[in-house]
Amino acid sequence: MDLTKVDQEAKAFHKLVETKKVKKGKGTLYTGVDLGTSSIVLSVVDEEGKFIAAAFEKAHAVRDGIVVDYVGAVEVTRRLKQDLEDRLGQTLDLAGAAVVPGADKSTKEVVQNVLEGAGFTVGKIFEEPEAAAVILGIQDGAVVDIGGGTTGISLLKGGRVLASFDEATGGHHMNLVLAGAYHLDYEEAESKKISDKKEIFPVIKPVAEKMATIVKDFLGDKEVDTLYLVGGATDFPEMEALFERVTGLETQKPDYPIYITPMGIALALLEAEDGRTDN
Ligand SMILES: Nc1ncnc2c1ncn2[C@@H]1O[C@H](COP(=O)(O)OP(=O)(O)OP(=O)(O)O)[C@@H](O)[C@H]1O
Ligand SMILES: [Mg+2]
Repeated sequence: MDLTKVDQEAKAFHKLVETKKVKKGKGTLYTGVDLGTSSIVLSVVDEEGKFIAAAFEKAHAVRDGIVVDYVGAVEVTRRLKQDLEDRLGQTLDLAGAAVVPGADKSTKEVVQNVLEGAGFTVGKIFEEPEAAAVILGIQDGAVVDIGGGTTGISLLKGGRVLASFDEATGGHHMNLVLAGAYHLDYEEAESKKISDKKEIFPVIKPVAEKMATIVKDFLGDKEVDTLYLVGGATDFPEMEALFERVTGLETQKPDYPIYITPMGIALALLEAEDGRTDN
């Protein structure tokens, strides 16, 4: 799979996050809301699928795929929505979100309520890997999403999730290991992980190996060609080779793995709404 186009789009998206600039969009706008363990990210695409705005805030309203601070989640989402609307000079109405694969009905309802509480009309709630697959442009393979809290894996066939699994091992656990090894507090460990990647990788390697082993054990002898790594905690240059060694499978990772799910949600919503008007 050639990820060049995704990498270019994600690079531009990263710029939108960093500079807070917005682009001019055409027609109806679609907002993706990613309620994560470490942050809430909003992405906006226009009706041609161009990403025109993004907003991000660190938040701890979600843990292991469950909204643990409902009021906080609504507040942050509403603030980010307002910020985007001010910058765009236009209101945002239709939004989608995503939950961890296999989440039950009530988890989906809570996520839907968060979006509605923030003032959105909810188009659809996706499963995270489904949304990631849309932006990656893949129909088949295994999507491994490693965020702050969890390692999630989903097997996709024809764009649908066939089977999935997740376990509580993520960037948070890397921080705990680093805090212990370097005698840092949690936030210092988080900063060191990102600023001194090369130096710290050997220290967090056992955590990364555990993540790869979770994936290998889940896959067993299921038929899979390629693994795709997404989520912020996969953002180490050594990750692909490590996953290939542990699982024996070809492994690919886009340049900005942290943005894949939030971008995917907005794009998947556009596709879903397009499908609705075509039929
Ligand atoms: N450049 C980076 N290099 C390494 N790790 C990073 C980088 N940027 C973010 N992270 C880590 O990635 C994690 C956040 O990733 P992501 O935004 O995908 O998670 P999330 O969606 O909030 O969480 P989850 O999906 O588990 O609910 C954090 O642990 C953070 O420290
Ligand atoms: Mg996530």
